[in-house]
Amino acid sequence: MHCTRKVTDHIYWVGGSDRRLALFENIFPIKRGVSYNAYVVMDEKTVLLDTADSSISRQFFENLTHVLDGRTLDYLIVNHMEPDHCALIEELLLRYPDLTLIGNAKTFQMMKQFFDFDVDAHATVVKEGDTFSSGEHVFHFVMAPMVHWPEAMVTYEEKTKILFSADGFGTFGALNGNIFADEVDFDRDWLDDARRYYTNIVGKYGMQVQNLLKKAAGLDIAMICPLHGPIWREDLGYILDKYNTWSSYAPEDQAVMIAYASMYGNTENAANVLAGILADKGVKKIVVYDVSNTDVSELISEAFRCSHIVLAAPTYNGGIYPKMENFLADMKALNVQKRKVAFLENGTWAATSGKQMAEQVAALKEMTVISDTLTVKSALKEDQYASLEELADKIVASME
Ligand code: FEO
Repeated sequence: MHCTRKVTDHIYWVGGSDRRLALFENIFPIKRGVSYNAYVVMDEKTVLLDTADSSISRQFFENLTHVLDGRTLDYLIVNHMEPDHCALIEELLLRYPDLTLIGNAKTFQMMKQFFDFDVDAHATVVKEGDTFSSGEHVFHFVMAPMVHWPEAMVTYEEKTKILFSADGFGTFGALNGNIFADEVDFDRDWLDDARRYYTNIVGKYGMQVQNLLKKAAGLDIAMICPLHGPIWREDLGYILDKYNTWSSYAPEDQAVMIAYASMYGNTENAANVLAGILADKGVKKIVVYDVSNTDVSELISEAFRCSHIVLAAPTYNGGIYPKMENFLADMKALNVQKRKVAFLENGTWAATSGKQMAEQVAALKEMTVISDTLTVKSALKEDQYASLEELADKIVASME
């Protein structure tokens, strides 16, 4: 059975949600599932904007054929060639053999890599600034390289003032009937997943996202239709502001993230004591994470949100405890920067993890170390309470 929704009088959402997939891209846990959005424009010519992941192909084709209501599909605009959106192109061509595919030069280069059908026989190549009319609707093509792949583009439709934004402004999370951000409590129920999606999928490419935001600022946008998660038709400033913060690597909150690794609870104890002292000193926004049982995608998301990061870890095989090392590697890969940091190390005979964590953080941009490394030898001792208070004072003093 079809499951579609109207976006405007002539534009329909024909996507679907997957609540079975455990790991998006086989790496990111998605407890709330994920949606793959696609949109059909019913005009003199029919136009589909992107397809979907193969996991929802049945729902997608039921939706598409319902909306087309016996008409053929004339055009497919391919904004992004990652398989979560392009997997169904070949099947579309089997159903609609006269279909014209619209994409840029890189789109078709990738399409030839993923598929074996005769791409050139169907391709119409567009570049930055080109337009295409389906009748009443006029589509403008805007290149958005590295948001999230090199071929990515977004499409602006001038009649409805809709920005079809590809991965941009997307989020993890299945859609539950409501497809508009104003139909849900986005700040309460979606923001954490939107941040986790952004920071882990596109976090590395802040400059490219800033470039896209500058291009978007020149458009009169009434609605943002992303390929994942809710559509924005009200309060666009909310999500544009979040994207501006995330892509400029500015902290979203004046908050302290304490990320600890602990084998037997001693480093954990130090983390908890520090959190308690911070609370005593009036800090309200404190989050404490055990890196061994928190997915690194959540740690990255929180590192983007919080202004202060305290890293606490034992020394392990003469190096940094592996789960913490993995977090540090991901921080580098995703370009985490502009944070205030402090280190707490533990070691029973040769504590060197603090020095090594500091070396890794030094490779990140504009990180400020606000205190000397605090060393725990096996377990925290009563006479170290003052050192933790001193660290807490420095954190408080450096909060805005
Ligand atoms: Fe949702 Fe980069 O694909």
